Amino acid sequence: MRAVDIIIKKRDGKVLTEQEINFFIENYTTDEIPDYQASAWAMAVLLNGMTAEETTYLTLAMANSGDRLDLSGVVDIAVDKHSSGGVGDKTSIAVVPMVRACGLPVGKMSGRGLGFSGGTLDKLEAIPGFRTDLSKDEFLSQLGSLGMVLTGQSMDLAPADGKLYGLRDVTGTVQSIPLIASSIMSKKIAAGAQAIVLDVKVGNGAFMENLDQARELANLMVSIGELSGRDVAALLSDMNQPLGVAVGNAIETKEAIQTLRGEGPADFEEHCLEIASHMLLLGKRAETKAEARRLAEDAISSGSGLEYLKKLVQAQDGDVRVIDHPEMLPEAPVKTVIEAQESGTIAEVHARTVGETAVVLGAGRMKKGDSIDPAVGISVMVKVGDAVEIGQPLFVIHARSDDAVEEAKQQLKNAVKIVKEEVAPLPLFYGLVD
Ligand code: URA
Repeated sequence: MRAVDIIIKKRDGKVLTEQEINFFIENYTTDEIPDYQASAWAMAVLLNGMTAEETTYLTLAMANSGDRLDLSGVVDIAVDKHSSGGVGDKTSIAVVPMVRACGLPVGKMSGRGLGFSGGTLDKLEAIPGFRTDLSKDEFLSQLGSLGMVLTGQSMDLAPADGKLYGLRDVTGTVQSIPLIASSIMSKKIAAGAQAIVLDVKVGNGAFMENLDQARELANLMVSIGELSGRDVAALLSDMNQPLGVAVGNAIETKEAIQTLRGEGPADFEEHCLEIASHMLLLGKRAETKAEARRLAEDAISSGSGLEYLKKLVQAQDGDVRVIDHPEMLPEAPVKTVIEAQESGTIAEVHARTVGETAVVLGAGRMKKGDSIDPAVGISVMVKVGDAVEIGQPLFVIHARSDDAVEEAKQQLKNAVKIVKEEVAPLPLFYGLVD
């Protein structure tokens, strides 16, 4: 078998066999197939799609590229969650400790920033020392001792996804239903949790821009999960405006900490409570949605979620002082406020433009392996439906330099639309697929 023939077959819109997909992924994992061939193949998949069967083979090939964890010897049940990617989505950092504080173990493998969307690993690495490369043995031992793990791919856990994910980020090959579904589900299958809540984002700041695409992605992931014997539920959530206030790595981590203190933005807190409730339900920690919701609320009001975040940071070698002193997180030297030029109602805060501007400021990557700047980002001070007065802050830009501020200002110019009539707030969720 030759990689080039598999690329040509996909380029010509044909269906790949299980053997061809396994060959491609196995050899890409071991570097026999170089990045340039994998890029061409990913572009062919993006342009020509994959059948549900091909996507399932791809998911399993990537899940099998390293070890697949069996958590049954460590915990009775563990729950996992994953977002399909959005702007300002720091949910995992708040929700993993919240759910653990409610007595349900969580074993989660996250990703890095992807295109305009941020990644949990990059956000957590804003905490000095925090390790996101736990080995399989470390994953299992921490899940057993602490009941909670939040790590990334390593050489022994879904390495094929780790490599392909980094490549897709910088080759324009993110927005593909089969590539997203297999990327997410391979990590979930490798990490071994029996119950998985998926947060499928829809809107201009998501990879799925309309509800039909989001439903298709959700259905595909739920059925791949079922085929692998997992309980999966997918929530469809809004990503037409950034979630919460902060967009950028350190500022998002700070916002997750504030939310666990009960001082977070209302939309982000509500989003976390909903995701946590579904995790508690699916993980059988609660019998009804109302009971799950009450447990999740208690994890914030009692401070137990915050305590568990401290334990997580400590267990993964991070500087635990940042939890009580988030001001110790990296801070950008230049901060500039962008003000409203007119009064009226906010009709749009274009999430993708905000995400792309954060990448230009240095919060994301332009090419594979680029380092990112944890300190930079954008605080989004308004939501759709808010009334604003002329001169009121719309954004705060956190930048490395005045030049970077100027560039960001240009990009953000048309990100907010202000109108004279009333505008209804956007919903947080559009439905559930289970
Ligand atoms: N999250 C992932 O893990 N993979 C994707 O492809 C998109 C979002």
